[in-house]
Amino acid sequence: MNLSTNLCGIKIDNPTILASGILGVTKSSLKNIAKNGAGAVTMKSISKEPRKGHPNPIITTFEAGMMNAVGYSNPGIEEAKKEFVDLKDVGAPVIASIIGSTADDFAYMAKRFLTDEFAAVEIPLSCPHTPGFGTLAGQGTPKATSDITKAVVKNTKLPVFVKVSPNIPKLADVAKAAEEAGAAAITAINTAGPGMIINIETGKPILANKFGGVSGPAIKPIAVRCVYDIYKAVKIPIIGLGGINTGRDAIEMMMAGATAVGIGTGIYYRGPEIFKKVADEIKEFMKEQDYKNLKEIIGIAHE
Ligand SMILES: Cc1cc2nc3c(=O)[nH]c(=O)nc-3n(C[C@H](O)[C@H](O)[C@H](O)COP(=O)(O)O)c2cc1C
Repeated sequence: MNLSTNLCGIKIDNPTILASGILGVTKSSLKNIAKNGAGAVTMKSISKEPRKGHPNPIITTFEAGMMNAVGYSNPGIEEAKKEFVDLKDVGAPVIASIIGSTADDFAYMAKRFLTDEFAAVEIPLSCPHTPGFGTLAGQGTPKATSDITKAVVKNTKLPVFVKVSPNIPKLADVAKAAEEAGAAAITAINTAGPGMIINIETGKPILANKFGGVSGPAIKPIAVRCVYDIYKAVKIPIIGLGGINTGRDAIEMMMAGATAVGIGTGIYYRGPEIFKKVADEIKEFMKEQDYKNLKEIIGIAHE
């Protein structure tokens, strides 16, 4: 069975994509994930200046997932420009990820960082534990989304994927604003929250930042609902992510309306092999249920 898909003109061998921020800091880590069967890979988000991020501890796990307050630590644009070259070696399409706190920052990043070696660029608009990134004055408003999307679209020929947070009250309006501003796809969702986990032995929050973004199985129902809402509002493709661990999770996300699925925290549960495993499980399910191709699955929860 053939799982190859066309995502905004990018040919991907199967619908699994490495989510931004997990094992995407170097070209060799992206290559390793491609070798493990990902259809495409997203690099960790890069900002203009190097960012140290939040102090340790920055990640903790709990029964239903993970909570992180990495705080967009990254080496900054100049170092990243040296790292992300000759991307054909990676073995799968590479999606860039750029962040900033104003539309001008995003325009600068798009102009200075993006090369035609990348297959697309993702712009995360709002992160629950790093306020000010990609939100302008209004946290995830249609206006801020439109201004930032336009700034990036104007400065690159690459397809622009707008990544949304589940915390946005009018998510459908924000997705529509992104589409109208020229986005090629919507990536949904970033981490949820912020959340907090307290160590009851010490009586203190575990993360030094106290709060963190929640990911993994705990947020899957929220992610599925967000993808469902966005699918109703826009015509452009959706990359659905949040708690995908298995082929069945991926199928559920596609039934809500996703054309492809992102995997981040799932690597913690099943290792980098998760991409091949999920693709195989999707095929198995399709065979069992007599689906011939992914188009028969995408969005059927709406019928
Ligand atoms: C440790 C960690 C770091 C992350 N860093 C980024 C990042 O730099 N940029 C971004 O857009 N999303 C980042 N995310 C969010 C993920 O890309 C993804 O949207 C979220 O974790 C939900 O998917 P998952 O449940 O499969 O992990 C990060 C998530 C985790 C767990």
